[in-house]
Amino acid sequence: PAGAAVDPDGVLVIAGCRVDDLAREFGTPAIVVDEDALRARAREYRTALTSRRPNARVVFASKAFPATAVQRVMVEEGLGLDVAGGGEILSALRAGVDPALVVMHGNAKTTEELRIAVEAGIGLVVVDNEDDVDRLERLVAPGSVQRVLVRVVPGVESSTHPHVQTGQVGSKFGLTAAAARRLIARIEASPLLELRGLHAHVGSQIMDAAELAAAVAPLAALGTFPVYDLGGGLGARYTTADRPATVDEYVEALLAAAGEHLPADAELIIEPGRSMVNGSAFTLYTVTTVKRDARNFVAVDGGMGDNLEAALFQQRYEAVLAGRLHEEDAEDVVVVGRHCESGDVLIDPLRLPAARVGDLLAVPATGAYTHTMANNYNGYRRPPVVFVRDGEARAVIRRETWEDLFARDV
Ligand code: LLP
Repeated sequence: PAGAAVDPDGVLVIAGCRVDDLAREFGTPAIVVDEDALRARAREYRTALTSRRPNARVVFASKAFPATAVQRVMVEEGLGLDVAGGGEILSALRAGVDPALVVMHGNAKTTEELRIAVEAGIGLVVVDNEDDVDRLERLVAPGSVQRVLVRVVPGVESSTHPHVQTGQVGSKFGLTAAAARRLIARIEASPLLELRGLHAHVGSQIMDAAELAAAVAPLAALGTFPVYDLGGGLGARYTTADRPATVDEYVEALLAAAGEHLPADAELIIEPGRSMVNGSAFTLYTVTTVKRDARNFVAVDGGMGDNLEAALFQQRYEAVLAGRLHEEDAEDVVVVGRHCESGDVLIDPLRLPAARVGDLLAVPATGAYTHTMANNYNGYRRPPVVFVRDGEARAVIRRETWEDLFARDV
């Protein structure tokens, strides 16, 4: 993150906080967020979009980092929130969002979740299927209306991991053109629903802005509406070799496609998640074991319990020994987690100074889809989320306690 520095002892300092102090105060593993960097990114997105197209807005895809404190930062920076289910609506409301600025998603929304959405006055429900419409028509009180978008399969195959492609024909999300047309006609005839427009989301961790902009023309082919929501999907930079499009390049590409295909007065929405939050956070671990055998194994006190990206999507990361930044890299290692699973490998390979038990390992670029997919496998306590700013650190989510692990026992 922008706020990173190295102190004279070779210790990583983030937003004025030494990581060894953070480790002492909050323990490890810990997800550490540079709050100013997070705010700067939110502003960068808002300015990039609304300076070029005033009738446009950014809603943060909460699923990437659905901590109430992160959602609150987004709200304070003038963004709306995209929510993927009932829990994210409830945290969005706790974060103080104006419900009118919330966009709700899901390919299998339950009646209970839709009831929460309708009762809260959520601005837009993105309808994925006929059943969403059936449920909404039962929930909306006669005389009122729920505004909706229809999620469309744009038929765009993106260059990313197959598990995070969503725009191709055959995706479980949304409807292809003929089915979308039928649902559009049904909603237009409903007195309880107001069709505001269309939505498409091509996938996630997409480096090339042109692939994201390719969803615009297929939406335009379905007709003229007041709102077009173009989803999220811009890739984040995980390693020094990664070169995702910049926010400006991404917005330019979308607006060029919109200028060509969409009505000039249509409202545009984008839903960045990963690229909004990934770069402002890192995970701080402690090395628990160094085993020099068939490989040089550096094992840390976390792993797939706090970060599933490597195990699920073979995401590449880099890392540093955060207390020994003045030392030269000395060996190739494989950084492994603490979980009972051979796939629990965080980084392979990595060059590090010769690691010792007790060293701190900092893995940058862990803001997105880490906290939210953290789990209790092997009786693991999910880590805290710590905000740092101007030399001050505060936990916005505490570490789980042993008692928390049994809180649901009946
Ligand atoms: N809008 C919709 C409707 C989405 O489904 C998503 C992500 C986004 C926006 C935000 O996309 P982003 O800007 O973050 O790429 N769990 C996976 C990622 C799944 C992404 C799902 N949808 C992972 O850990 O990589």
